[in-house]
Amino acid sequence: MADIRTLPDAETAPEAPPAPVHATIRREDYRPPDWLVPEIALDFALDADVTRVRSRLTVERNGAHDRPLRLDGDELTPLNVLANGQDVAWRMEGPQLVVDIEGDRADLETEVEINPAQNTKLMGLYASGGMLCTQCEAEGFRRITFFPDRPDVLSRYRVRMDADEQRFPILLTNGNELASGKGEHGRHWAEWEDPFPKPSYLFALVAGDLKPNRDTFTTMSGRKVDLAIWVREADLPKTGHAMASLKAAMAWDEKVYGREYDLDQFNIVAVSDFNMGAMENKGLNVFNSRYILADPEIATDADFDAIAAVVAHEYFHNWSGNRVTCRDWFQLSLKEGFTVFRDQSFSADMGSAAVKRIEDVRVLRMAQFPEDSGPLAHPVRPDSYIEISNFYTATVYNKGAELIRMFHTVLGPEKFRAGTDLYFDRHDGEAATCDDFVKALEDASGVDLSAFKIWYSQAGTPQVDARIDYDADTGTALLKLGQRVAPTPGQPSKAPMPIPLRTALLGEASGAEIASEQLILLDRPEQTVRFEGLDEAPLLSINRGFSAPVVVRAKRKGDELERLAQSDADPFARYEAMQELAFEALLAGARGEAVDAEPLIRAAGNTLRSNELDPAFKAEAILLPTEAVIAERMDVVDPDAIHSSREHLRHALGSALMDDLAKAQAADAGSGADLSPLAKGTRRLRSVSLGLIAGADQARAAGLAKAQFDVADNMTDRQGALSVLVSLDAPEREAALTAFYERFHEDALVLDKWFALQAAAQRTDTLDQVLTLAAHREFTIANPNRLRALAGTFGVNHWAFNGADGRGYAFLADMIVAADKLNPQVAARLVPPFGRWRRFEPKRSALMRSQLERIMNTPGLSRDVFEQVSKSLA
Ligand code: PHE
Ligand code: ZN
Repeated sequence: MADIRTLPDAETAPEAPPAPVHATIRREDYRPPDWLVPEIALDFALDADVTRVRSRLTVERNGAHDRPLRLDGDELTPLNVLANGQDVAWRMEGPQLVVDIEGDRADLETEVEINPAQNTKLMGLYASGGMLCTQCEAEGFRRITFFPDRPDVLSRYRVRMDADEQRFPILLTNGNELASGKGEHGRHWAEWEDPFPKPSYLFALVAGDLKPNRDTFTTMSGRKVDLAIWVREADLPKTGHAMASLKAAMAWDEKVYGREYDLDQFNIVAVSDFNMGAMENKGLNVFNSRYILADPEIATDADFDAIAAVVAHEYFHNWSGNRVTCRDWFQLSLKEGFTVFRDQSFSADMGSAAVKRIEDVRVLRMAQFPEDSGPLAHPVRPDSYIEISNFYTATVYNKGAELIRMFHTVLGPEKFRAGTDLYFDRHDGEAATCDDFVKALEDASGVDLSAFKIWYSQAGTPQVDARIDYDADTGTALLKLGQRVAPTPGQPSKAPMPIPLRTALLGEASGAEIASEQLILLDRPEQTVRFEGLDEAPLLSINRGFSAPVVVRAKRKGDELERLAQSDADPFARYEAMQELAFEALLAGARGEAVDAEPLIRAAGNTLRSNELDPAFKAEAILLPTEAVIAERMDVVDPDAIHSSREHLRHALGSALMDDLAKAQAADAGSGADLSPLAKGTRRLRSVSLGLIAGADQARAAGLAKAQFDVADNMTDRQGALSVLVSLDAPEREAALTAFYERFHEDALVLDKWFALQAAAQRTDTLDQVLTLAAHREFTIANPNRLRALAGTFGVNHWAFNGADGRGYAFLADMIVAADKLNPQVAARLVPPFGRWRRFEPKRSALMRSQLERIMNTPGLSRDVFEQVSKSLA
């Protein structure tokens, strides 16, 4: 009997050289798997403390070779290993179980015991709020059983679960239930089968005392699907929006992509301890509860929108990710970039497309641009990684989505759809690559897209310089374009990229479009585009709709931006002109130069008073760039100078536009339960206006905010009021925070907001408050949502985190070190704010660096944090 005590030759075998502690995995090293596993049968005897997992793999030699079977494991000890029912020699090589198999096919059985209650990494099988659940992407399945845990090994799963019926009355896994029954000693069991072969990262299992919100959806070919959202009984009333979103997403994917759901059941489970947003496991999506639970009392309009987007995203993965999966993790954007593009398009269709585009670009600029210009920059399809969990990034997701959007722009909707049809058809049931995706688009459209592939491989945000020269005598204008990409780690010199720029010219005098919109493809370092027959001087409306994910620096005439902000027919370009006006003032202020706020004040006033613009657009347009985004534009970052420049501008805007802002703040959005775009936009504009009022008159703002808070019948107004109050020195602040706490502290998701609001406060004592909150009895680093609410929010509070004394840095470093011992994945996600250290003035730069070094020198650092910190220091 082979077990842990009879490790073959453990004493005599020559010691293998120690594998490097944190090895780098490279895309170019990809090799097809040595062994395939067409079938797997899993048998779980579930228990919070000791779960026994038996697995039987049908393994098949892949090609002619004599290499042994290698199964990944992570913190697993084999209790029993059998091949074809017989004892077999096996060995551990590091975490891998290695078995020499005779012949080309075998049944390989293993048995292990795992401890869900002690699984603080929340990868594999873990306990959360009395239930048991799994998270396997990217490499969590190897914490459940020995397996070739890589996405190009696809298997048919059959799963038996056995558990105490009282504690775990509901047993769920992928696919369809075949049978269930009662066992001895109060236990029960269920057996399921998933007919679709899938990689191990899509495996899921849930056991718990859950109640369903049930509904049905009839697919376009007339099949009825049973839908269920599983939550704790008390949360059932908060699942309506998620269910409505799911049904809308199912209908949308049929209409827009021709994709139909393929199983008889679709289950969603909400859990309160989750490393990410949600997970697309086949037929059994597991969600962070914050992306399921909502009613207007506890969730903001933004929360409602995020729920719809994430529910749709995970559902869309059923095709873009599950039916067609990824060959290796370097291809992650194949499923994520495409699926983000799909969920963005869905949300745009459900509400205001223009506002959705502005929000998506704001996220890209806040989260992805800094990534692309810092030490953690990587291509959409990375070339190497140490820990794949670190590559679930804004680059892979959001820049990846921009890449797909460019394909859509260049091909047009019909050819794009023909391309995705071909892609799904050609690769159904396969593990594909980014190249396969582009090939399908090319083959279906007849358009050569090869030049665009550089967007997959070259990191960094291109900068496009634009200037227009007009000759009134000939009515000719020359648009001179140039592009360059700054070096990024491992890529010192860059090649030109194809940049699709939707461009139009407006008349300087008339404001009318004098050259209608065209798609300019900038694909050389420098290019000139000629416009003829112009009878007035042109204004340049470029990168409309943000058609390319680039930074545009256009040489502008005196009042050009103001004119564009007023008359550009493209809402994004109009928004962009407002942002640029704000930047001009903000950057001048931060450099200590004279600030002319008048153009922005006039443009913002016109925007607020416009009868054509909807309130959601107005809110976006008058929102000033964040301090972190301003910092991105400075060569040497001085956070105090940026902060005071922004405060001055808020003051100038607030005082000049007080009447308009007060009117917008007082607007009636009707009932808090009204989630129409108009009601949501009105609420948004109300809180954005409140923020600007506070810039000019703290006492007035405090009074208005407290009143808004007190009468609110919805979380949007409440949180909007509080987010302004937290930064004020007014008695209303404490009163509102206390009232909020008393009323909501039993609701974990709302309590997260209470922590996050205070961590986001713009005040000199924010760090002290955060330190007090870190000692609050309801703070815990073990729950990812709570940790992110406090430490994650603080890390992106530019002014507070970058306090001159460096205590903010020390706090975040302490949090990273402490969290790393429990949950490396979540700890590593707190590191990026430190990556800016080279950009700061020397004192802060040194302080940040020394905290990075302190983390680096912590014994027993995880691979996750090691990678982020070492790359940040490099
Ligand atoms: N694949 C998930 C999504 O984007 C994200 C995720 C990654 C969740 C890793 C958990 C772990 O939908
Ligand atoms: Zn995804």
